[in-house]
Amino acid sequence: MKKKLHLGILGLGTVGTGVVELLLKRKQMLGDCRVILERIAVRQKRKKRSVSLPANLLTTNPEDILEDPKIDTVIEVIGGVSPAREIILEALRRRKNVVTANKALLARAGSEIFKEAMENDCYLGVRASNIASYRLIESLSFSPSRISKLIGVFNGTCNYILTEMERKGEDFSTVLKKAQEMGYTEKDPSDDIDGYDTAHKLIVLLGLSLGYFPTLDSILIEGIRRVSSQDVIFAKELGYRIKLLAIAKTQTNNLEVRVHPALLHRDKGLARLEGIENGIELRDEVGLEIGMQAPGAGKYPTATAILEDLICIARGRKLTFPPEKRKLSLRPMGKIKTQYYLRFSALDEAGVLAKISGILGQHGISIKSVLQKGRDERKAKSVPVIMLTHEAKEEDLQKALKNIDNLPVVKEKSVLIRVEEGIF
Ligand code: HSE
Repeated sequence: MKKKLHLGILGLGTVGTGVVELLLKRKQMLGDCRVILERIAVRQKRKKRSVSLPANLLTTNPEDILEDPKIDTVIEVIGGVSPAREIILEALRRRKNVVTANKALLARAGSEIFKEAMENDCYLGVRASNIASYRLIESLSFSPSRISKLIGVFNGTCNYILTEMERKGEDFSTVLKKAQEMGYTEKDPSDDIDGYDTAHKLIVLLGLSLGYFPTLDSILIEGIRRVSSQDVIFAKELGYRIKLLAIAKTQTNNLEVRVHPALLHRDKGLARLEGIENGIELRDEVGLEIGMQAPGAGKYPTATAILEDLICIARGRKLTFPPEKRKLSLRPMGKIKTQYYLRFSALDEAGVLAKISGILGQHGISIKSVLQKGRDERKAKSVPVIMLTHEAKEEDLQKALKNIDNLPVVKEKSVLIRVEEGIF
């Protein structure tokens, strides 16, 4: 074990402060390694903070960290793509180890950053970018088998919103406000609710396990903005829960990657996750199934993941990153097959169900079950009609929905939520 680490920290927001607090609480010792806080780069020196630090420790110039030869390890918690990317690459070129929580950056520039770290024989710690599933992926990097299916709940904010909507019947914006107050959300919470944070984490995990980082614009990313309390309640009646899922499946050289809300059987696996809990379930190509769950957001869980990376550095752990073994091609979204939950707002009159199911039938889509709600006399004449389908091809389903939405008896744009089979 290395006896001393000389640390530079970039950023003293929620996570940076958590790291400093935990280090001070441990008297700057991790096991028998002494961690010396050399410099912290901040935007404003004079801001009121929850930790008191000597003024000379703070700087507003990141160069003071990069140029200090004493500093051997840099923690990047400023977030965002630029200047974080340039700072990390420069730190690696100067042979400093880097620990980062920046999933948005790793999803966009992961392959460039890992390459730089390998070339300079530096450790690149990314545990904090995906605190709830990193350990599992790391252990898989030692496995000779490849992942055949991965599903995950990777965003604490969305899981919190969806569980509170179901539990308390509160609407989306009320719960989002609470999540922001608790410090779960990203700087821009649309990253959470529009699915980007989940996609960033999925891309990083695929990079770590397959050596392949799909680009953000090549995969389907749908968030939870359009999930209404109605759908949460209907899903419950049908025996499901709605979760924002990250999904990846491999078949020979074909990779299916998507992020979207999905119905999961409510009593199993990831469906049971509450609040900010995250989870991951994996099946490898020889059928081995494993999973784990852990808190997915918050100051101390994230700061702890950073300290774990510091321990790896102190122990002299080497970076393990799989080279891209074979060329993978992404399956177009139209070709994927899954089951669907559909909600139509239709007039409550004779022949409506026949018209809707007729169009689905013309497109080869078979209905598994139907739930129709009675008319509320005080309101408009349209009523919700919910259908669950058997497995169908996405492009057929989309064509059918377009035709259904053109029917005069259908009063609003129909809602589609995919249904996913969990592994456990
Ligand atoms: N905003 C993220 C979440 C924080 O809600 O999961 C952890 O990455």
